[in-house]
Amino acid sequence: MAFTAVLAGCGSMSRGWLTAIATHPLLAGRVQVVGLVDLDRATAEARAAEFGLAGIPIGTDLDAILTQTGPDLLFDVVVPGARAGVVESGLRHGCHVLSEKPMAASIDEGRAMIAQAAAAGRLHAVVQNRRFVAGVRRIRRLIDSGALGELTGLNCDFFIGAHFGGFREDMDHVLLLDMAIHTLDAARFMAGKRPRAVYCLETNPRGSWYRQGAAANAIFEFEDDVVFNYRGSWCAEGANTSWESAWRITGSKGTLLWDGEDHFEARIVDGDTGFFRDLKPIEVPPPADADQTHGHASVIADFLDAIETGRSPETAGSDNINSLAMVFAAIDSARTGQRVPIAV
Ligand SMILES: NC(=O)c1ccc[n+]([C@@H]2O[C@H](COP(=O)([O-])OP(=O)(O)OC[C@H]3O[C@@H](n4cnc5c(N)ncnc54)[C@H](O)[C@@H]3O)[C@@H](O)[C@H]2O)c1
Repeated sequence: MAFTAVLAGCGSMSRGWLTAIATHPLLAGRVQVVGLVDLDRATAEARAAEFGLAGIPIGTDLDAILTQTGPDLLFDVVVPGARAGVVESGLRHGCHVLSEKPMAASIDEGRAMIAQAAAAGRLHAVVQNRRFVAGVRRIRRLIDSGALGELTGLNCDFFIGAHFGGFREDMDHVLLLDMAIHTLDAARFMAGKRPRAVYCLETNPRGSWYRQGAAANAIFEFEDDVVFNYRGSWCAEGANTSWESAWRITGSKGTLLWDGEDHFEARIVDGDTGFFRDLKPIEVPPPADADQTHGHASVIADFLDAIETGRSPETAGSDNINSLAMVFAAIDSARTGQRVPIAV
């Protein structure tokens, strides 16, 4: 039988969720949307019409729609500032809650959500769809295999001139909180290491069309002496990188380059003489599980599988808070000009 779900927040991103639910093979017949909520009723009605959902309860008051429909699931696709209240309502109504990123607007809010989910005995997880892409899964597998030797560093460049309009242009720490959360989460996943501390410089470059924090340079220390360098800007015109960033990952035996799309180059040392050692190419293995490479559809499917089997979802709030902590430590470091330990 399909899970019943209310979706709150019917703006741009909700189209991706509803499309995945309606059309992706991983989700076929698994979710029935029984209610839609948005502070702006017309936005919810337009989304309902687009997906043939005009007959279901639609409203501006989440509590009222949850009371009326009593769903199994709450899908939270609201703006980040409204997330804490929406998650709390969903859990209070006995729903399992899957939220868009970022998990919370502060670490304290994130901790409260984890406690509320535990008290309610319900799952709470976060959409980190950018770890559910083939390239990230392939890199994790390559690193795990040891083919690059001991992992020593991850370096990524994220440079995109993105003109969204809307909430982002007026948001504090817009790059770190709204976008870098994906990249930092992907780095943490690929490395399979715990983040320990960060130094960060956050800037709003000349010509930025964002109010604050459209760029950041951050150096993260991971456990086992692994260093992760993040360089990013959301107001860099002229040469966009991939949304996944462009990566250089180093190990004690060699290097992997990934353009964030389909191009990989991985080489390791082949011989022990010469100023520059001879190198040989190595294969980047395919993803261990192709079902984990479909972005939103894979995250939602993982969440449903977790409910069905009683395990924790990969992006459970209790784990995802470690990625959120990287963001808030970077923000703290930028504010204080100090190296900041990363603690949850
Ligand atoms: N995972 C991704 O790749 C990805 C991509 C884009 C956006 N997002 C995230 O999705 C979320 C929504 O982003 P968006 O681009 O759709 O924004 P948006 O502004 O287009 O839509 C958000 C909607 O939420 C509604 N809303 C706000 N507070 C609400 C509340 N308390 N109850 C009900 N509705 C409320 C707004 O009226 C608006 O219609 C954000 O957290 C954003 O970071 C994720």
